[in-house]
Amino acid sequence: MKLIKNNVYFCGVQDPHRRLFDELIPLPDGTTYNSYLVKGSEKTALIDTSYSTKVVEFLECLEGESKIDCIIANHGEGDHTDALKFVLEKYPKALIYCTQKCCDILVDAHEIPLEKFHVIADGEKLSLGDKTLQFTIAPWVHWPDTMFTYVEEDKILFTCDFLGAHSIVNEVFVTPSEEYLQGARRYYGEIMMPFRTQCKNYIQKIEALKPEIICPSHGGVYDKPEFILEAYKEWTGDIPKNKVVIPYVSMYGNTEKAIVYLEEKLTKLGVKVDKFDLVKDDAGEYVCSLVDAATIIFAAPMVLAGPHPAAMSGLILTNALRPNIKFMGTINSFGWGGDFMGKVKANLNLQVEMFDPIAFKGKAKAKDKEQIEALAELIAQKHKEIGARN
Ligand code: FEO
Repeated sequence: MKLIKNNVYFCGVQDPHRRLFDELIPLPDGTTYNSYLVKGSEKTALIDTSYSTKVVEFLECLEGESKIDCIIANHGEGDHTDALKFVLEKYPKALIYCTQKCCDILVDAHEIPLEKFHVIADGEKLSLGDKTLQFTIAPWVHWPDTMFTYVEEDKILFTCDFLGAHSIVNEVFVTPSEEYLQGARRYYGEIMMPFRTQCKNYIQKIEALKPEIICPSHGGVYDKPEFILEAYKEWTGDIPKNKVVIPYVSMYGNTEKAIVYLEEKLTKLGVKVDKFDLVKDDAGEYVCSLVDAATIIFAAPMVLAGPHPAAMSGLILTNALRPNIKFMGTINSFGWGGDFMGKVKANLNLQVEMFDPIAFKGKAKAKDKEQIEALAELIAQKHKEIGARN
């Protein structure tokens, strides 16, 4: 356990070998499950617990703690609550403080009896003696059950998943760096981007609170909160960047040559391009790129009488992430037919302006390249019209 400030301690557990989150997005650096102990003059509160694979390590972290009076569950997902039952066995008098929705989740998932819960009201305070916890119900970052906990006297805010990062920090506090930001951005893209509007509102509320320290339940502790708050303000902004993301699949190189041609034309026009091979590249990098892109161009061949399945899988992932994309187009190489754009439109769940499709038999010929050049010019023009940022 490590001291954060004035009898507030960090008791996080590292999981450096975890390679996937939600069985979906790669974790190149693993992750952490952070828990915190707040020791007041009368009561001790444990904030969040840990994941099923780390229960032993987590309980070792609490060794020597003679009492825990309250367990604050800011969020009911298993990576923060699997250890709850074991904590309750060790500290049977402890009461769980959480939202009604979180209580419902925990009763169902862990079969914890209802009498072990105190359901909080928005703004409710809990005195620990010389410290006061204040609870704020903050749904949809990223489940309907989520809340924040604030220690008024120490100006420390506990946000659970919100503002977290899949990064490991050995010294507890985050040293602001581009590398750390990349982990936080990957985390934001997968976990929080679908709730961009809520994130934006909570950032405003947190700034008004003026916390001196922010303690999320993944990654490190921010003793310079402006580092992560400024990053979230940028990521949740309404105006995207002058950037095109091209998720693609290429079987014989024809689709890839066409998108490289598009990339060359866009680059000459001053538009940034990120390309991602949907079969071979890290999906997390794709997610990161979506955070501030203005346009997506899906590019893929037809196979087995339909669009390449990896392209459709990429489309479904993109739908789920709800990026702030404004424009979309398709590039498609086919053998004998098919309607790639039609299938994309039928499966798309984003409010975007669609460009005319570009489709060609085999490799792109001169007339197809003309279409690609025209698409590049149209994208550059559209980005200018919306005031896309450079
Ligand atoms: Fe880190 Fe939503 O759990």
